[in-house]
Amino acid sequence: MLAGARTDWPGQRGHDLQCLHCLALKQFRVLSPIPIINQPNLVTLNFTDTDMLISSTQKLFKLLMVLIMLVSFDTKGQTPVNWQAKWIQAGFKEDSATRPAHYFRKSFTLSRKVKQAKIYITCHGLYEATLNGKRIGRAYLTPGWTEYKKRLQYQEYDVTSQLQPGNNTLDVVLGDGWYRGNFGFGGHRNYYGKELALLCQLELTYSNGKKEVIGSDDSWQSTNGPIRYAEINNGETIDARMPVKNWTVVRTANYGYNDLIPTEAEPITKHETFKPVKIFTTPKGEKVIDFGQNLVGWVMMKVSGPAGTKITIRHAEVLDKEGNFYTENLRGAKATSTYILNGNGEENFEPHFTYYGFRFIAVDGYPGDLKPDNFTAVALYADMAPTGTFECSNPLLNQLQHNIQWGQKGNFLDVPTDCPQRDERLGWTGDAQVFSRTAAFNFNVHRFFSKWMKDVALDQRPDGAATNVVPDVLNGAGGATGWADVTTIIPWNMYLVYGDKDFLERQYPSMKAWVDYMTHNSVNDLWNKGRHFGDWLSYRSPNDDGSDAITDKYEIAQCFYAHSTQLLINAAKVLGKTDDARQYEELLKKIKDAYNHEYVTASGRLMSNTQTAYVLALQFDMLPEATRPVAAKYLADNIQMYNNHLTTGFLGTPYLCHVLSRFGYDDLAYKLLLQDTYPSWLYPVKKGATTIWERWDGIKPDGNFQASSMNSFNHYAYGAIGDWMYRVMAGIDTDPDYPGYKKIIIKPHPGGKLTYCKASLKTQYGIISVNWHIEDNKFKMDVVVPKNTTAAVFVPDADGKNYTEHDIKAGEYHFE
Ligand code: BGC
Repeated sequence: MLAGARTDWPGQRGHDLQCLHCLALKQFRVLSPIPIINQPNLVTLNFTDTDMLISSTQKLFKLLMVLIMLVSFDTKGQTPVNWQAKWIQAGFKEDSATRPAHYFRKSFTLSRKVKQAKIYITCHGLYEATLNGKRIGRAYLTPGWTEYKKRLQYQEYDVTSQLQPGNNTLDVVLGDGWYRGNFGFGGHRNYYGKELALLCQLELTYSNGKKEVIGSDDSWQSTNGPIRYAEINNGETIDARMPVKNWTVVRTANYGYNDLIPTEAEPITKHETFKPVKIFTTPKGEKVIDFGQNLVGWVMMKVSGPAGTKITIRHAEVLDKEGNFYTENLRGAKATSTYILNGNGEENFEPHFTYYGFRFIAVDGYPGDLKPDNFTAVALYADMAPTGTFECSNPLLNQLQHNIQWGQKGNFLDVPTDCPQRDERLGWTGDAQVFSRTAAFNFNVHRFFSKWMKDVALDQRPDGAATNVVPDVLNGAGGATGWADVTTIIPWNMYLVYGDKDFLERQYPSMKAWVDYMTHNSVNDLWNKGRHFGDWLSYRSPNDDGSDAITDKYEIAQCFYAHSTQLLINAAKVLGKTDDARQYEELLKKIKDAYNHEYVTASGRLMSNTQTAYVLALQFDMLPEATRPVAAKYLADNIQMYNNHLTTGFLGTPYLCHVLSRFGYDDLAYKLLLQDTYPSWLYPVKKGATTIWERWDGIKPDGNFQASSMNSFNHYAYGAIGDWMYRVMAGIDTDPDYPGYKKIIIKPHPGGKLTYCKASLKTQYGIISVNWHIEDNKFKMDVVVPKNTTAAVFVPDADGKNYTEHDIKAGEYHFE
């Protein structure tokens, strides 16, 4: 099992934990262990309040328990590794054009009984390890992707059960991966270095207590084998005829150990599998399999045929309007698996060091007919625990929720990527901040974002600008409004949903550096410099009738400047940094004054007459109170002008329905949500989407595609509506003063002719659930509030108006 650092406490997955030193004591349930910075041996343990003992003697007793447990339990991966292994590299001369995978081997003999065996592995590239022919662990694309220039994760596995008396063989294969392979755009290679390298340390504890380390060193051997080519964007070629032989000695290298860190987030693992729903031949004659779901992972194939038979599997998200296989939107990514048979009966193939975003595959060269039994698609994504469920009476909205979740699955592969299929797949910061709150409803993304945000801070430029992608592979390009605000938005969101102050504390310098960057680049508190993406992919008229919804980029920038400053103030207050809070409050006032002076008319009209301009101004409280309702009315008018369609891009969309609901326009929010013609959330659903599209019109009403240069069918950004669906439609929110759902706000907004809506969220205290329905024109609601929390429940009438408030404790309730 993969034992990530500080992660595999026995109690973490909800098991009860019993102190071995105090067997008489009752069991304690441990919530997430929180790493203590710079103290790799220690974690803080949180207990559910069920276990809270009330008397002070008992409190003391409990404290003792914690201390005892801190020293009693094996902390799996928390002890820093005492690296004795050496970095090693292949000893043969490599074919520099195709760069086949590197195979490493170490054989050893065990003459005594082993009580425990742990292995620590990392590499430059990607690794897969086997011990005596059996795969080690269930993690893929390891060691994962971090800012390799500064830190590199290693993984720890318990391999006790894989050892055998006598001879043992440890094999590790390395592929190019993010380290030196072709990923991102531009077809570049060797971003982090030219050479693969392996570091591997097996630690044996014999039953007599003696210890032995078998580390990578010059006694290991290297060669090539069946994996002839493997790159993230282009795919993998396996020639099963190639033997793993002709071993050569390895070289040792001096990369040191200083940048090594224990793995931080959930690894990428295999999840759902899909069987073909349709196998057919396209008008162009391609043999195609449809798996029914746009997913990220690969296809596992069974086949028998003569040696040398070559099969290729290409991947596509969509078919064109004639029904042919469509790969133009993958741009430079070849996304192809190539398999060559060895002819020894039934053979099983799957790639190792690549991944694909696809729903369809085109198979060429397969001996015989394509049969469903022989093809299985498997989804690979970060092993985050599912936390949210959402369902309502409208099947199209349920499909939208499905698409949002699959957008998340397909793009949470160790880093949050913009898209998983074309030659890009990068950690675009704007996309991630936009979607972060929705993501935290569907899955537990605490560790996922904790890891990635550390890289955001590490990549931040000396001038304070956060980079556009993290890990930064675009040479420091950064400072774009709405993108670099990832520095403030995600930490604040994670604080709200997980109540994790340490997250804020850790990111605080980065938050501050970003706000200071904007200040330094402002004149008279107006930030109107720099290159920005703006309200990316907002509505453009298909027939050039002048209705494009373009919001001035600097107007947007001033809003995000204010927003980030506000979040910094919030964080300063939570962390007791009162001087900072005061200083930035003064600044915030000036930022808003400058905004009003530059972009707002006396009557509350904005310079850019767009939905996004009004949405941002209202969401971030840019306008004086008195003019807000006026601005909200302009927003409503604008939506009606587009015949109840949204026109927002990446930056306006997440807040659109929130602003409408806040200013009393629930009806309009529902009209937008239920709109099913372009542009709208349900338009792609009606076009058969199974994930969220990058563009509102990836497939146009006439069936043609948007420009292939930028047309992903799996881009989670517009899925940010999920946050409104959970928080406003269903009505589950946290009180910001009691974050992490310690105090829950339940305030559903019924509407849109929905007859029911039910949602649940697994929090650190337990499951919150809300289930409302309209019956006989009456609003009825069942609510579950987990132990050790309280909730303020607001019950509306059937029209979603006139709320009555109830303050409740944990328990199950019915309201009507
Ligand atoms: C990505 C986006 C990203 C954008 C920056 C695109 O190529 O796919 O999602 O945020 O560039 O504007």
